[in-house]
Amino acid sequence: MAIKEALSPSATLDETRQFMLKHLRGIVPESDIDAQAETVRAINQLKQEKNAVILGHNYMEAALYSMVTDHVGDSLQLSVVASKTNADIIVFCGVWFMGETAKILNPHRTVLVPSKDAGCSLAEGITVEDIRALKNRFPGAVVVSYINTYADAKTESDYCCTSGNADKVLNTLIASGHHRILFLPDRYLAANTAAKMGIPFLPSDADDRVFEAVPDDQPLVIGWHATCEVHELFTPEQVDAIRSEHPETVILAHPECPPEVMAKVDVSGSTKAMVDYIRDVDAPSYTLLTESAMSDNLAVEFPHRTILRLTNQRCKHMNYITLDDTLKALTHLQYKVELDPATIEKALLPIQRMIAIR
Ligand code: 13P
Ligand code: SF4
Repeated sequence: MAIKEALSPSATLDETRQFMLKHLRGIVPESDIDAQAETVRAINQLKQEKNAVILGHNYMEAALYSMVTDHVGDSLQLSVVASKTNADIIVFCGVWFMGETAKILNPHRTVLVPSKDAGCSLAEGITVEDIRALKNRFPGAVVVSYINTYADAKTESDYCCTSGNADKVLNTLIASGHHRILFLPDRYLAANTAAKMGIPFLPSDADDRVFEAVPDDQPLVIGWHATCEVHELFTPEQVDAIRSEHPETVILAHPECPPEVMAKVDVSGSTKAMVDYIRDVDAPSYTLLTESAMSDNLAVEFPHRTILRLTNQRCKHMNYITLDDTLKALTHLQYKVELDPATIEKALLPIQRMIAIR
């Protein structure tokens, strides 16, 4: 749950509206709260009637994130929750690859994603054929796929990781003697993680002679060329401007941002790492270089903290998931994530390995 106080599933419309006003005033316009209260009430009632659980990624819009979810978090946290739930229906308020991960972990449960359009530029940035070609070009390399990939890409992967455990997964692989690591598909996450760990990084579009020059017994992270269409937009100049206007603020950035941005910020971390930092570390103010809904959500969750809203990069895919569509998802049991059994079986192992390395 995003906030400690629970909204009862049997709350009346007026109680729901009062609860929303109490927590969302100043974040969500009062007119929107009036318009959304009935939808929130209906979702919470239906969720109980149908024994459903609603998982919400940290990038969900504020009213959805705070008023109807049972669990919120980053990709890794929500995968773990999905692996343990007993609910009959999992409504995944996040993007499609997240719903697929929940389905792979729960093949016999109904998993719903409220919009068919909730994609991801990273997941769409690599195909299963691309991965097979890379494996042919780098025989013996171990394949680590970011969780932001579709299920078929996971079937060609040895390990999955999230931004929350990428360094731990690489450490585990290097400790067990793997020296060539294909880290796919996010070029910036691969480069940033390698830099953090002091391991050389090369993009797969580099010339073969560059690869041949790296001794076989030296660890090397090899990246692909996909990027997050939201985080790639942050710039080092933006960081400089924030620093000169707000010298006191702590700047936190998601490692999907370009390396030149990461070099200038104070804290690098997954969305969970950002939540933990703001909860645990007292600072005059915080500025997040990530998807913009998250700053609103943290302002609701930690009203005693000052979270500056200086950037406005909304992910169009996350934005497709609305309260109205979540109600439709529960009412009509749409849109079901369906995967064939062979894909589920092959994609499960790298996901289980990811969950084991937390
Ligand atoms: P997290 O795993 O850090 O929540 O990130 C998911 C994502 O889509 C980032 O853009
Ligand atoms: Fe994908 Fe980027 Fe949107 Fe996350 S923010 S879902 S990585 S496009």
